[in-house]
Amino acid sequence: MVDTKSRTKLIVLAGALLACTGALAQEAIKIGLILPLTGPFTPTGRQIEAGARLYMQQHGDTVAGRKLQLIVKDDGNVADATKRIAQELIANDKIAILAGFGLTPLALAAAPLSAQAKIPQIVMGAATSVVTEGSPYIARSGMAAPALTVGIAEWAPKNRIKKVVTLVSDYAPGIDIEKAFTEQYTRAGGEVIAQLRVPLANPDFAPFLQRAGDAKPDALFVFVPAGQGSILMKQFSERGLDKTGIKLIGTGDMTDDDILNGIGDVSLGIVTSHHYSAAHPSAMNKAYVAAFKKANPGMRPNFMAMGGYDGMHLIYESLKKTKGATDGDAMIKAMKGMAWESPRGPISIDAETRDIVQNIYVRKVERVGGELYNVEFATYKAIKDPSKTATKK
Ligand code: PHB
Repeated sequence: MVDTKSRTKLIVLAGALLACTGALAQEAIKIGLILPLTGPFTPTGRQIEAGARLYMQQHGDTVAGRKLQLIVKDDGNVADATKRIAQELIANDKIAILAGFGLTPLALAAAPLSAQAKIPQIVMGAATSVVTEGSPYIARSGMAAPALTVGIAEWAPKNRIKKVVTLVSDYAPGIDIEKAFTEQYTRAGGEVIAQLRVPLANPDFAPFLQRAGDAKPDALFVFVPAGQGSILMKQFSERGLDKTGIKLIGTGDMTDDDILNGIGDVSLGIVTSHHYSAAHPSAMNKAYVAAFKKANPGMRPNFMAMGGYDGMHLIYESLKKTKGATDGDAMIKAMKGMAWESPRGPISIDAETRDIVQNIYVRKVERVGGELYNVEFATYKAIKDPSKTATKK
């Protein structure tokens, strides 16, 4: 028998417990979105943020009964700042998820904190192969650099491009892409006659373009990170290289949808391979582009926005699977092997590497309805980072 006094005590206790779980259920799940929002890579940060916000706008800010709260921070494209911000977000704001990361050094700066605190880190922009190995809690929603060259490396030798000079940004994703392209293109029968590397910060492409022109290749293969393509293409035409018959090819980072309309006719005919084009001809993508433009007047979504949008999908769907639990192990387990239809096409997260698996499209810049677009004409399906599959075999 329970006496009245004990019963009252029990009721009070039960009430307190209920209030406590109620408060827990209502406590928002915080996502720290760390992006370059000042400095030369501001457009990358803006695109990723716009993609992430669009997803939240379309899907609501409550998942598995819990509210989501986005905390957006500017890293200024500085690795040390990224690390400090991630630390503060974890220790002070008690975030459950780290996301964003527009460039490789920024993603790698936060990775040890994700590993230590067992916090999922959704890499939406940075593309170097090794990024996913920085923490067992990283999943990538954007792209893996070595996968991007697959289409163009096979297309080029079949289209009278037998000799190529490569020109890449001199940092990790550029080195990844130089290596991947050279391997794939050589295997397909092409020859790389010179490899040029241009500094990442404030690049002046002129002397490199001079050297590339002197080598008289059939084409110049280029990787520059999102945003830098416009300077390169302008300098290419200013130096008259477009008149010499040397073609410009590369990964689609050069002809990114955000800058293409501002470049003008210089970009017409450039062939690249990549995973996203605003002109991807699916009903889902048409609706996505229209919604993005409506929510962000004057902007057109590029591949960085796609990484932000699908990164949010990864977060939402994994939280649904864990029923709102934010435990890092449970969340990353839920992400492994997840597959879905994205505006870019079918995509999935490799269960072993936590990296994205996606179609790579070969595209040509064309004028469509008064705008410049990367018009897709060939598809390489379900491409994994080839450098990872090679080592895993
Ligand atoms: C990177 O730093 O990993 C990166 C950034 C922008 C790109 C591609 C790769 O377009």
